[in-house]
Amino acid sequence: MRAWRFALILGGIALLPLMLPKMAPAQGSQTLSQLTQPIKIERGLSNIEKECIECHSKYEPGKVHDWANSAHARANVTCLDCHGAKPTDKDARDCPGTKKYRNIKISPIVTPLDCSKCHPQEYEEFARSKHARTWEIIRDKIKDPWLRGMNNDVERASGCYACHGSDISNGQLTSVNWPNEGIGRLNPDGSAGSCVACHTTHRFSVAEARKPETCGQCHLGPDHPQDEIYFESKHGKIYLAEGHEWNWHKAPDAWEPGVDFRAPTCAACHMSGLGDLKTTHDVGERLKWEAQSPLSVLNKDHDGNAERKKMEQVCQQCHSPTWTQNFFARYDQAIENYNENYFKPAKKIMDDLYAQGILTKWPVFDEEIEWVFYELWHHEGRRARMGAAMAGPDYAWWHGFYDVKKTYQHLVRLAEEAKEKGHGTPVYVPGSGGRNLTPAQVAPLPEGWNQVKNLKGRP
Ligand code: HEC
Ligand code: HEC
Ligand code: HEC
Ligand code: HEC
Ligand code: HEC
Ligand code: HEC
Ligand code: HEC
Ligand code: HEC
Repeated sequence: MRAWRFALILGGIALLPLMLPKMAPAQGSQTLSQLTQPIKIERGLSNIEKECIECHSKYEPGKVHDWANSAHARANVTCLDCHGAKPTDKDARDCPGTKKYRNIKISPIVTPLDCSKCHPQEYEEFARSKHARTWEIIRDKIKDPWLRGMNNDVERASGCYACHGSDISNGQLTSVNWPNEGIGRLNPDGSAGSCVACHTTHRFSVAEARKPETCGQCHLGPDHPQDEIYFESKHGKIYLAEGHEWNWHKAPDAWEPGVDFRAPTCAACHMSGLGDLKTTHDVGERLKWEAQSPLSVLNKDHDGNAERKKMEQVCQQCHSPTWTQNFFARYDQAIENYNENYFKPAKKIMDDLYAQGILTKWPVFDEEIEWVFYELWHHEGRRARMGAAMAGPDYAWWHGFYDVKKTYQHLVRLAEEAKEKGHGTPVYVPGSGGRNLTPAQVAPLPEGWNQVKNLKGRP
């Protein structure tokens, strides 16, 4: 069905089974390290396409061999199919090999819209997911404090943008925005995101994307440790013990639990077509909760209760209904425990302090208690919820609810102090200011930084 679609889309290009034995070796017959000579094309491609490959194999043999070992090379999808640009494109330019052609321009940027020429369904699903919309969410909806000047460009470029994506919408590539394969990148053609976040160039492999390491590049750390949780779960342990023996190469919707793999990976639970479930590139499907947000609420993009049924179907490929339902009842109780016993009371303490003018709303992190409240939901509160969601007991308790309790006590103590003094304990935030500040510019404490009156009433 899918192969048929590609055959139609590719139209005139002959779908040769193999272009050259050397370029597209059968699985396992040759390893990358054996492919050391420049590639010579002898048939099947236009002259221009051959030029790209032959010349680039001299300059960047690693890249070209990756491509030669990909499903794309086997299907005659070449450099020009992805990098070709119209002269009028914002990001169009010449490389040393294209200068002699007037109508052939290239771009180093290859967007989801470029892939959609041949993969329209994956594009549409990805485009509606939070993955592709992350910029819109963090900049316009959440108005994240870090993006409003609590850190600077250097910190954002090496941190936030690497996971969330940068803004390259004007086609200008600078050290702040490029290289970047962040999941919600803003592209010159108006599309969002990057398929390369999971299918690295130039292999574009399904097998790689199915493995948890792919997702773990971004889903880890103190605030969203899904990677660590997975590797402490029984599923992750089975993957570590046996994953090297599983069949990672099956076509989507034909990857069989129990046959090809016996414990789920991130992709298996969140994306793969198992049983009656179809493969999806919208990772927001199958989720009941928004457990990343300060107060856990039902899935805002989908009907959370219907999506829960889909996730139950995933589990029931390998577990009984009772096992599955008890597991989810326990998770829902953990969500409620966090919301009712910790988040809502902590939020009330903060709201009261703001209402009484004891704390200032802006700047966001100018009082110690604001950092403590942030970590309560953003770090430990997320860890507790995510640990309970994905069967990681150490994260649910020791890094989770245990730490939430401790942070809560800290918050209460700081709130009492603030009430006594009539103001919060001020803190100075080095590196804030939004623009590129050098350490020398931010190091000296501004005069009166710890005078509470100077912190109040800022815009
Ligand atoms: C004669 C050799 C040669 C040929 C032919 C050639 N290239 Fe290049 N290309 C290069 C070199 C060298 C660079 C690196 C230039 C640099 O970074 O300054 C490059 C850079 C690129 C880049 C990255 C540009 C960037 O800004 O990072 C892309 C994409 C590219 N080429 C695609 C192509 C495509 C597609 C074709 C065929 C239409 C092609 N090249 C033909 C030599 C060649
Ligand atoms: C299936 C689409 C596809 C094909 C085919 C393809 N590329 Fe790319 N290439 C990409 C994507 C995606 C990126 C990452 C750029 C981005 O993030 O937008 C990339 C990046 C690049 C870059 C710049 C990044 C770097 O590491 O320097 C060069 C140069 C390049 N490709 C050359 C080639 C050449 C040469 C070929 C043919 C042998 C080729 N590409 C085939 C999709 C493709
Ligand atoms: C000109 C058409 C074309 C373009 C453009 C294209 N692809 Fe493909 N892609 C194909 C074909 C054909 C196959 C092989 C399908 C098959 O083997 O059934 C394929 C296969 C794949 C696979 C499966 C590989 C595997 O391991 O089985 C992935 C992943 C993929 N493409 C991602 C991308 C991404 C990401 C882009 C954009 C950067 C892209 N493709 C651009 C035509 C294209
Ligand atoms: C290591 C990769 C990484 C870095 C660095 C990173 N984030 Fe994130 N961010 C994520 C992931 C993954 C999530 C999803 C968390 C979840 O759903 O559990 C996320 C979630 C968020 C959310 C919540 C979105 C929502 O749907 O509610 C915001 C806001 C956010 N990040 C902003 C930022 C900002 C601003 C920075 C830099 C100061 C940053 N992030 C740095 C990976 C990262
Ligand atoms: C969050 C990670 C992720 C991102 C981002 C991603 N993919 Fe995938 N992709 C996967 C996984 C995982 C699979 C395998 C699903 C399975 O097990 O069936 C897959 C499978 C595929 C396949 C094979 C499906 C087929 O019918 O042969 C194609 C093609 C593909 N992706 C294209 C894309 C394109 C195009 C984009 C960008 C619009 C993209 N992917 C972005 C993770 C990702
Ligand atoms: C390049 C970084 C990156 C990679 C790789 C990545 N993600 Fe994400 N993911 C994010 C960010 C950032 C968010 C938060 C987006 C937002 O809410 O703004 C996110 C959100 C999510 C969500 C929550 C979606 C929702 O609607 O609430 C799920 C589930 C998820 N990712 C699963 C995966 C899986 C599974 C993989 C691997 C197949 C993966 N991610 C790979 C960065 C990444
Ligand atoms: C056994 C299946 C399973 C595996 C394996 C798994 N997850 Fe999950 N994941 C879930 C369930 C269930 C939830 C909670 C869904 C709900 O809210 O109902 C969840 C929640 C999430 C969320 C939170 C979404 C939000 O913002 O509320 C993210 C992000 C996520 N998973 C990413 C990952 C990543 C990355 C991996 C691999 C390192 C992974 N998951 C492995 C089942 C799984
Ligand atoms: C591909 C098969 C497969 C899928 C799908 C799957 N699991 Fe599992 N799971 C296993 C295997 C195998 C074990 C180990 C069983 C054992 O310990 O005997 C396991 C163990 C577990 C455990 C560990 C029990 C313990 O005390 O250590 C929990 C909890 C669990 N699964 C929950 C889930 C949930 C919830 C889902 C769906 C979101 C799910 N599983 C999906 C195969 C699967």
